Amino acid sequence: MTNAAIIVAAGRGERLGAEVPKQYLPLGGRTVLYHAAAALCGHPGVGAVRTVIRPEDREHYDAAVEGLDLLEPVAGGATRQDSVRLGLESLEAQAPSNVLIHDAARPFLAADLIGRLVDALAASPGALPALPVADTLKRADEGKVVETVDRGGLWRAQTPQAFHFDAILRAHQSVAGQSGFTDDAAVAEAAGLAVALVEGDEDNFKITSASDLARAERVLLARAGETRVGTGYDVHRLGPGDGVTLCGVHLPCEMSLQGHSDADVALHAVTDALLGAIGAGDIGSHFPPGDPKWAGAASDQFVRDACRRIAARGGRVVHVDLTIVCETPKIAPHRGAMTARLAEVLGVGEGSVSVKATTTEGLGLTGRGEGIAAQAVATVRLPPHMVKSS
Ligand code: CTP
Ligand code: MG
Repeated sequence: MTNAAIIVAAGRGERLGAEVPKQYLPLGGRTVLYHAAAALCGHPGVGAVRTVIRPEDREHYDAAVEGLDLLEPVAGGATRQDSVRLGLESLEAQAPSNVLIHDAARPFLAADLIGRLVDALAASPGALPALPVADTLKRADEGKVVETVDRGGLWRAQTPQAFHFDAILRAHQSVAGQSGFTDDAAVAEAAGLAVALVEGDEDNFKITSASDLARAERVLLARAGETRVGTGYDVHRLGPGDGVTLCGVHLPCEMSLQGHSDADVALHAVTDALLGAIGAGDIGSHFPPGDPKWAGAASDQFVRDACRRIAARGGRVVHVDLTIVCETPKIAPHRGAMTARLAEVLGVGEGSVSVKATTTEGLGLTGRGEGIAAQAVATVRLPPHMVKSS
């Protein structure tokens, strides 16, 4: 059982009226066609994928699908119906069992929809994704309502439409030259082929007008998720000693930081910034200072715990910016080591971490050398919470 796919991309996009046909317009750093083609190429149930194009669009096509594993494209015809038939005929040599026929202008084709269609072909020679009509339907004439149309039993048909290959090829060939078939299910109907409905997907809309393109941008934005920013601040008292630990790095000096754990004020601020970004309380609520378990504890485990909480929400740390406030020890000579260590603890590249230091010109508790303060800002990316565009 082999499944092939045809993407029809030989239209001109006249209703959208852009400089290039709509399937070659940019969308989220790629093109509309790329998204549609990538969904089919990347699906484990789909073998060969062929695009039907206008030969004069060849340059746009090559740029649009770069990096995808597609068969050599074939030329389309004057109507969508012609383009589909030409695409089907080009696959005859491959003799697939089934074929999915998709519009290049529908960029948001979900893998589970492809799966539903392929599954449906086990019991039916044709299957199409459809959604029920929710709005009340009116027939109008010259801007005035003539009647209300019963919407019972009416569905909005999408693509891909899936068929047993031989049956849909014959059906298309038998109506070649007759116009008016705007989708392949209509061709199947004319040939008496049964077409089963499977559940469609609201995001799998067709880009027809400029407002559809704007909607597609909104879908991408929603799918990209949310950016969160958290802040953290901490101070630890200084006392006599032989060095301080900041960002997990030992800085030799004639002082030490006092606190229940290793008193790494920098990592404590980072932990609070990370927890703040996901609204998960603060370091004290997870690691109470009174708990003997944390006496002298290395503070990197607090940061790692916050990172695990972010990962558990499907998120990731994008960036952490840390400022350490003290007169001594001097941070600059250790900045490289601290940056590397912080990046390692966070599980990000060094380019995603910034370690800075400042003094307070001899003023305040840090100026008087009574303590070291640290302030951190964490940027975290979270996935969308079941975001649907509209
Ligand atoms: N299509 C095609 N060959 C044609 C006409 C259309 O392959 N001769 C494809 C389009 O590229 C599109 C799909 O069929 O992916 C659906 O058609 P439609 O939305 O009508 O696209 P266009 O014909 O390009 O747009 P318009 O009708 O606004 O010109
Ligand atoms: Mg058209």
